[in-house]
Amino acid sequence: MNRRMILNTVLLGIFLFLFGFKLFPHPWHQIAGVLVLFPVLLHIINNRRWFTALKRGRWDKKRRLWTAANLALLSGVFLTVFTGLLCSNYVTASYGSTLPYNAHLVSGIHKLLTKILLLLIAIHVLLHRKAFSSWIRHGFRG
Ligand code: HEM
Ligand code: HEM
Repeated sequence: MNRRMILNTVLLGIFLFLFGFKLFPHPWHQIAGVLVLFPVLLHIINNRRWFTALKRGRWDKKRRLWTAANLALLSGVFLTVFTGLLCSNYVTASYGSTLPYNAHLVSGIHKLLTKILLLLIAIHVLLHRKAFSSWIRHGFRG
């Protein structure tokens, strides 16, 4: 059984759920939005070699682009979750006007970040499409 691909599929599933924001009740979105950090963390641990290898090798144009996309993805996820938390219904309902920031503005930033993140995830999955086509052909053993 290929645990790595199960994790990747779970990751993709949660992201699709999060991007389908309008289709599901808001509390589910907010809970899944925080929980997604666990599979993301496991995915990063699985790929830790990629991070340690950053110190080695030559930096051609392709590698620079690929690395920038992966690092943007990493920071994008954390920023999206962070802004989501700041504008969540729980926070705005409990603290309302006493909040030291403009929750409406933060919500706008959250929405903008989700659009960038969607693009980055689409690129990431596209670049790794071979892993998925092999998974589709051979199942979880692939
Ligand atoms: C959202 C945050 C994510 C981050 C920060 C992230 C980061 C990374 C990194 C650093 C690598 C290793 C370098 C590389 O091969 O490009 C990698 C590999 C990979 N990623 Fe992601 N990724 C994320 C999300 C996803 C999602 C949602 C999927 C799946 C649909 C996915 C599928 C893959 C696959 C298939 C690989 C090849 C190695 C493996 O199977 O683990 N990633 N990712
Ligand atoms: C990586 C994780 C997340 C993704 C991909 C994501 C994605 C989205 C998307 C696609 C929307 C709809 C944007 C639109 O209408 O244009 C949205 C809205 C929203 N999200 Fe998230 N979200 C994430 C995490 C969170 C978290 C952790 C929370 C709160 C705990 C949260 C709270 C909200 C709220 C309150 C809205 C409604 C904003 C508004 O209409 O004012 N999100 N999110």
